[in-house]
This record gives sequence, C-alpha cells and structure tokens, in this order.
Amino acid sequence: MNQHTEPANFEDRNIPLDAPHPLAAQFEAITKEYTLDKVKVRALGGISGAIVQGATTFITGPSGSGKSTFLNILGLVDRPTSGALSLFGEDVTRLSDAAAADFRSRNIGFIFQSFNLIPVLSLRENVEFPLLRHRMSARARRDRAAAYLEAVGLGGMMDRRPGEISGGQRQRVAVARALATEPRLIVADEPTANLDSRTSREIVALLARMQAEFDTTVVICTHETQLIPPQSPVIEIIDGRLA
Ligand SMILES: Nc1ncnc2c1ncn2[C@@H]1O[C@H](COP(=O)(O)OP(=O)(O)O)[C@@H](O)[C@H]1O
Ligand SMILES: [Mg+2]
Repeated sequence: MNQHTEPANFEDRNIPLDAPHPLAAQFEAITKEYTLDKVKVRALGGISGAIVQGATTFITGPSGSGKSTFLNILGLVDRPTSGALSLFGEDVTRLSDAAAADFRSRNIGFIFQSFNLIPVLSLRENVEFPLLRHRMSARARRDRAAAYLEAVGLGGMMDRRPGEISGGQRQRVAVARALATEPRLIVADEPTANLDSRTSREIVALLARMQAEFDTTVVICTHETQLIPPQSPVIEIIDGRLA
C-alpha cells in the first residue's frame, strides 16, 4: 500500500506547510475601524494568518500599530469590522454575543499589562474568581486555585492580598488565574509592560513553561522584541497590517 498519500492542499486553506500542530486560530482579512467623534480610525487594515496550537506565539509592533485591537478580536473581547476568525476550527465570527461570551469563558484566558487583580480578595480568591462561571463545587474551586498558585511558585502566600506582593508576583497570580479555567488559548496583552527587565524575562519564561506543562496555546503581545526567545513564532503588525 502506498504510505505516501497525497497531502491535502494546504496552500488553498492558508495553512503553513511546516505547521507542526493543528491550528489554534485562523484569521482572514480582519479589519477593525473605530469611530471617534464621527472620524473613522482604521486600526487593522486586513490581517490574514494562523496561530499554531501548543506553542507560544508573539505579536510585536510599535505602539499604536493595532496589537491590542488584534488580541481583543482573537480573544473574543471585541469583533472585527470585517473578516473571518476561527478558533480551534470553529467559525467564531458567526457566534451571537452570548455564545461568544460562553466560548470565551470556556476556552480563553486573559493576562493584562495592569494585572487586573481584585484588591480586596486574597490571591487564592482572585484565582478562583473566573471559576465561578464554571460548574464546580466550592471545594474543587479552592483546590484548583491552590494548585495553579503552586504551579507559578506562590503556594506559600495564597492568603495574601495583591497589595502585599510585588509586581512580578502579581503577574504570576494573573498567570495562575488565566490557567485555572484550563483554557485552550491564553492571550497576554503586554504582560511585562509594568515590570523591570529581569522580572519581564521571568514572566515570559513562566508563560512558556506553563504553555508546555499544560499543553495550552499562548499568544503574547509585546513591543519589547528583546523578550522574544529565538525560534518563537512571531507575527509583526505595523500600522494595522502584517509587516
Ligand atoms: N477604543 C478605541 N477607539 C478609538 N480608537 C482606538 C481604540 N482603541 C484603539 N484605537 C486606535 O487604534 C489604533 C491601534 O491601537 P492599539 O490596538 O491599541 O495598538 P497597540 O496595542 O499596538 O498599541 C491606534 O491608532 C489607537 O489610537
Ligand atoms: Mg496595546
């Protein structure tokens, strides 16, 4: 029997021929316009490409180039003005707002530049917070939060509040919170912008380690290209277009 069966026509489907894994995301001609005082601002001018599953992909580009706009679309926080996006093979541009919110809470974790932790909650409660949308017992939630805080190296300080720990530790909590729902995709928008360079490298290394350990897909946007490990998949956006 012929072992070398003809591969599917990947070029027609816009899949990179050397893709080692199935795709987490495929996007085609994504545009985004914002209207400010009746003036239209074109933040994305037609972006097409793919993000492989089970890797850490970096989105780079200068400030104002459209990185956050793209990540918000990828993470189902915002919708494109036109274009198509599929996540894990599902065409998500067709989902209703409620279905998109449900898809997001089941499949996507977010990490922000400003950590976005809730100051009055303990670290453990912060990590438990997104689990409230999931069907879990209180006990399972507590255990899950504790396990991911352990994984990011904060097992010893779960009862502290965000104000009592350093910026790097806060971002570790945010990583644990993003992981806790066990999402297929984690998107991080400038997660190191408020951190010194050594802590920034630690957070990028932590995300890469967590990506491998939990076999998730991570997309990190940063304008600091020195943080990008060699060989990483990179998508560069300049003025709303792929460089
Ligand atoms: N909510 C918004 N309303 C109007 N314009 C916006 C909005 N968000 C972003 N923009 C504009 O879109 C462009 C891209 O912004 P953004 O995606 O935040 O870039 P980056 O994250 O690369 O710095 C910029 O010109 C910015 O001013
Ligand atoms: Mg941004």
